Parts: sequence; C-alpha cells; structure tokens
Amino acid sequence: MTQAAVRVRRKETSRQGESVPGYAIPADPAEPRSSTGPSVAPMSAHRRHVLFVTTEIADFIKAGGLGDVSAALPRALKPTYDVRVLMPGYRQLLSSGRPIVTVARLPAVHDLPACEIGRLLCEDGLVIYVVLCPSLYDREGNAYGDELGEGWDDNDIRFARLAMAAAAIVNDPALLDWQVDLLHLNDWATGLTAGYVRWLGKRYVPSVYTIHNLAYQGVFPVERLSALGIPASAFHIDGVEFHGQLSFMKAGLSYASQVTTVSSNYAHEITTPAFGCGLEGLLAKRALEGRLSGLLNGIDDRWDPRTDPHLSPNFGINDWHGKRANTQRVRRLFGLAPSSGPLFAVVSRLVAQKGLDLTAQVAETIVRRGGQLVVIGRGEYVIEQSLIEMAARYPGQVGVNIGFDEGEARQIYAGSDFLLMPSRFEPCGLSQLYAQRFGSLPVAHRTGGLADTIQDGINGLLFDEMTLESYRTTVSRAFDLFRATDLFYAMRRAAMAGRLHWRQAVVPYRSLYAELLSEATVRSGDTVELR
Ligand code: ADP
Ligand code: GLC
Repeated sequence: MTQAAVRVRRKETSRQGESVPGYAIPADPAEPRSSTGPSVAPMSAHRRHVLFVTTEIADFIKAGGLGDVSAALPRALKPTYDVRVLMPGYRQLLSSGRPIVTVARLPAVHDLPACEIGRLLCEDGLVIYVVLCPSLYDREGNAYGDELGEGWDDNDIRFARLAMAAAAIVNDPALLDWQVDLLHLNDWATGLTAGYVRWLGKRYVPSVYTIHNLAYQGVFPVERLSALGIPASAFHIDGVEFHGQLSFMKAGLSYASQVTTVSSNYAHEITTPAFGCGLEGLLAKRALEGRLSGLLNGIDDRWDPRTDPHLSPNFGINDWHGKRANTQRVRRLFGLAPSSGPLFAVVSRLVAQKGLDLTAQVAETIVRRGGQLVVIGRGEYVIEQSLIEMAARYPGQVGVNIGFDEGEARQIYAGSDFLLMPSRFEPCGLSQLYAQRFGSLPVAHRTGGLADTIQDGINGLLFDEMTLESYRTTVSRAFDLFRATDLFYAMRRAAMAGRLHWRQAVVPYRSLYAELLSEATVRSGDTVELR
C-alpha cells in the first residue's frame, strides 16, 4: 500500500432520501397503550401541546448531535405530549419529496421578510412546521453556512425569522388552530424566541431552553436590535446584552423558564469560568434559582448494529466474527493494509472543541504499536489539512475521509475497536454512545457528558488531563487491553449492553414539562412583563 488513503469531499453530502429506517420508538412500557398496537401513541384529548423549535433534524439535515436529539426526543415524548417541531424550510426539506402544505402566512416585520408556515408530516406521524422563506433558507449548504462551512452573513435575520415565527404561533393560537402550552428551544439559533414571547406575548407560556453547546452563542452587533425587532429596553445585562453586543444565547438563558443542558456534569461545568464562555455568572445564578439542570441525552432504535442497514453483516453482542467482518470492510474502504492490530477511529466535526490536533500527534504511537486509524470528519480547514498530512505520513495505516457521510460513520462505529474522543469540552457527546452500542470502546477525555457516560475500565477508557502525554498513555492502555482478550471482550460486551435509550432519557423531560405546566397554571392570568 503506497498511496495515502485520503478522500476529500468538500461538497455537502445530501441527506435527502437517505435509507435510514423510520424513527418509530416503541412505546414505553410505563405509558398507557393504545388499543391499535404498542407503537402507536395514545391520542388522548389531554395531551398538552409542545412546540419544539430546532435548526436541525436528522431526518433531513444534520450538522451534529442536535440533529439526532431533535429527531429522537420529540418522538420519545409523543406518547405523553402532542409535540410538534418548528424549523426553517431549508432546501433539504423542500426537496425531500415529502409534501409541505401551507397552513399560515406571516407578514414582514422590521427587517424580517414575510414567510409562510408549511406543515410536513413524517412517515411516523411527527408533524414538522416549516418556516417557508426561500430567500433565507433555500440555499446550498448546511443549516448555518455555505458548502465550505462559512457562516451565512444574514444568520441573525435567518434565525430571528424562525424565532419570530415561533413567537407568532405561541401568541396566536388561531394561527395553526393549535394552542402552544409549552415551548422547547434548542441552542442559540432559537434563543431569541424566549425574548419575543416575553416582549410580544400576552400570556405566560413556560419555556425550556436546552444548551447543546455553549460555545456557539449567536453574537451580533448592537446596531442589529431594531432590524430584528428587539426592544432597546431589552439591551441590558439581564437581557440580551453581552459585552456591548447582542447575544441570541443570552436571550434564551435570560428569558426561558428553565434552562437545561445535556449532561449533569456539563450543567455544573458551565457555571465555572473554565467552561462558562463568559456566561458562567448568569448560569450560576440560574442554577441557584433551581432553573438550570442537566438531562442526559439517549440514543434510539435507529442505532442498533443488529439492524443497521449500513453494516455488513449485522451483529449483536458476542458475535465477534460479524464485528470483525465490518472491521475488514472499513479497512478496505479506507485502503488500509491487512492487519491484526486494533483499529482506532474518529467520527467528528473537525473543530477545536474535539481536540483532534492532539490526535494527529497520537497517530505516531498508534502506528508504531501496530494499530491503524480511520477518520471521517469535516470542519475547520487547518484541522482538515493536519489530518490529511497525517494520512500522507502513514500510507496504508491511516485513512482520512474529509466529508460528512452518515452511512460511512455507522460503518466506522461498527468496524472500529476504539473511538478516539479527546474533546476539550463535551456537553454530552453522542458519538461515544453510538460507538459503545456498536462495540467500539471510547478513549476519551474525562469531561462533560463523556465523564457521565464512560466508566473507565468498564465501557471505555478515560484520561484526566487534557495533555498529549495522558492521551498517549491512555492510547497505550488501549493496546494493552486489546491484547488482554478476555477483559477486552468483557468491556466490549458491557459497552454494547449498557446503552442509554431515549425511553429512559425522556423521563426527566416529561417530569420537567409537567412541573413547568403546573407552575404555569398557577401563574395563568399573569401579565407578561419586560425585564
Ligand atoms: P457534536 O454534536 O458536538 O458534533 P455528538 O457526539 O453529540 O457531537 O454528535 C455528533 C453526531 O454527528 C453523531 O451522530 C455523529 O455520528 C455525527 N457525525 C459527526 N461527524 C460526522 C461525519 N463526518 N460524518 C457523519 N456523521 C458525523
Ligand atoms: C452538541 C454537543 C454534543 C451534544 C450534542 C447533542 O453539539 O457538542 O456534546 O451531544 O450537542 O446534545
């Protein structure tokens, strides 16, 4: 093998028409069952209405874990709540082949163009309301930027339009003939919704604002306030002001009834200067008020090596022959030489958060000790280049695909022995959960959700210090473990068996919604005040 195994695919991989099976989540045994069958949500007249606002959903468009959570959580909640999703009408939805029926029209307001609300029905009955505004959303690229990953210049308008549409649905139950009882917002791009509801609303509607990643905040110049219809009186330290600028993230943190994030450990970490990205003071205050909690993500039935259509063959616990066949397949895919050593993998956005600069250095240890490494990722140019150079240094031993490909990511989880996740911070992390489920042991930094989901020496390996030295030492431990076959297989079994399913992960969300809804009943009739 003399050629470096590098594939660079700059263009967005289209997710439309992807052959991932449906998202139907079996009914929770604890839920009342419908007479029509166990996987059909009971259509109780009492189900309260939840509007789940997001900027990604894995069915159509996904940049990372938010897309997975937005596909799974509303569905897991459906037996208990009438959850409907609201999101921008990106090209990926418009061209998906699924009908979108226009159900409402919203006028232009300030610099936000007029738009329509469309209704898209997923195969399993999930309703997605789509903000139809082609000038803002019908573009080549991903949810936030162009094909090269550059953020769109008008992202303030794009996501303010989404937020204003959400607020209109909340404030006018006649608009969709559906009264929102609770609003669930996700990440900075939806944060302004909590503000608009507060500034423009006439009744109190409880809201949950989930931080999937505090590092992305949506900060724009203060001059944009009036273009976006934000009252000047909201521009203060307890409102949307952040170091003299406008912060969408702060709108969510300041105005939502409850702030959540995606693991308990990260919920604590973000109240400290090391992880708080300058918002630790506000977050600590919200935590003191009992308004900040950590609710761990889960994974759903689409992530199952026994049924995943991208694997060949499918395999379950103890079917190490089946797993090994997937390993050979990944080696071939990446042009690696035959080997009996461990196969390490990276499936990741290529951004500083993920600590992959260190991985390029650790590759030397991996190859020297007889292992191999495959990477699929896309992101910052400098990191992409360093990985491409790494592959060129170790032809036949290291393979890199600069791209985003769901099927290939799944094959890698299935084929690898270890998944490298040296994240500097990690709110929850889903990749390590998928890797565990597919029998690949995570080797990860003990931070955020990685610390909450990986038990060192049981279902993965953790290192405490974010240094090259401790990362390297832990990779060496992985080699020792690989050779201690009995222990290695025992850990692999534990990892595959111990998945955290959304059926369990949804329970605290249900309780939180119930608490907020009963609180809202007490507060109903309150006038909404500007802070
Ligand atoms: P984050 O949301 O920070 O990117 P997570 O671990 O929560 O991290 O989720 C990442 C999700 O994106 C997982 O579903 C993972 O499989 C997927 N993913 C990341 N990079 C790629 C890629 N290059 N190709 C395909 N899927 C990817
Ligand atoms: C974010 C985080 C990741 C988390 C995901 C879903 O992108 O970086 O840790 O798992 O959101 O909540």
